[in-house]
Amino acid sequence: MPDSEQSNRSIKAPHQPIAGYYTTEEERASFIRDMFDTTSVDYDRIEHLLALGTGQWYRGQALKRAGLQSGMEILDVGCGTGLLAAQAIEIIGSSELLTGLDPSLGMLQASTLLRKATLIGGRAEHIPFPDNSFDFLSMGYALRHVSNLEQVFGEYLRVLKPGGKLCILEITRPETRLGSVLLKTYMRTLVPLLARAISTTGETSKLWRYYWDSIEACVPPRRILQTLENVGFSGVKQHRELRIFSEYQAVKQQSGFR
Ligand SMILES: C[S@@+](CC[C@H](N)C(=O)[O-])C[C@H]1O[C@@H](n2cnc3c(N)ncnc32)[C@H](O)[C@@H]1O
Repeated sequence: MPDSEQSNRSIKAPHQPIAGYYTTEEERASFIRDMFDTTSVDYDRIEHLLALGTGQWYRGQALKRAGLQSGMEILDVGCGTGLLAAQAIEIIGSSELLTGLDPSLGMLQASTLLRKATLIGGRAEHIPFPDNSFDFLSMGYALRHVSNLEQVFGEYLRVLKPGGKLCILEITRPETRLGSVLLKTYMRTLVPLLARAISTTGETSKLWRYYWDSIEACVPPRRILQTLENVGFSGVKQHRELRIFSEYQAVKQQSGFR
């Protein structure tokens, strides 16, 4: 569907169901949960390999750019094994100030934070906390997996305290054709090969193939920014590093009670 045609429709999911993995929106959540459950033991190792060890440093820098500071109470949604959460704890100064939320119990059980921070099962679409609970909300590389952007951003606005800050990290398809082809070749060939070589489960190469396919299918950044504004966030902006690492930042207005 041309982008202009799509822009006239109310966008719910960040992308349509992806053929070859699942065919309906309903199948998406169980497909995603099963995929992360079965590949959780390999996640950190492969992530470190792909980012050549810089992934953790980058996550910390992005959180600081979005305004995370010592002493803030933070909810990390889609925390998985805790790679972003661990960086957040370094900044806020105490694991007691961090809560991690993820629908994959396999990812939570594989987390190094399991006995250090509060980790609970749940989805971004229905956050099990009262209104105005957190100073900061982060989400790392999980936005492509939700089923309704408006609903998720509405939940983020609800659980943030007035003045609370949001930081969403996501990979964005390069704007140029050449950049897109290069990244696709890397993600569709080299990454699954490497994943197969060092993984303990056959499912892991599928995870990393799906990784690119969902990046390619994802709505453009302006749609994400627009949806954040539509639900009521202010100060909405995108910071981009190396053209593919997007950081979406937003603030819940002081008077923005819902
Ligand atoms: C690529 S991992 C990212 C983990 C971690 N945030 C990081 O920085 O490495 C994506 C995580 O999003 C989780 N996820 C998938 N669907 C979700 C949803 N609807 N709500 C919240 N988290 C979700 C997955 O279970 C998985 O643990």
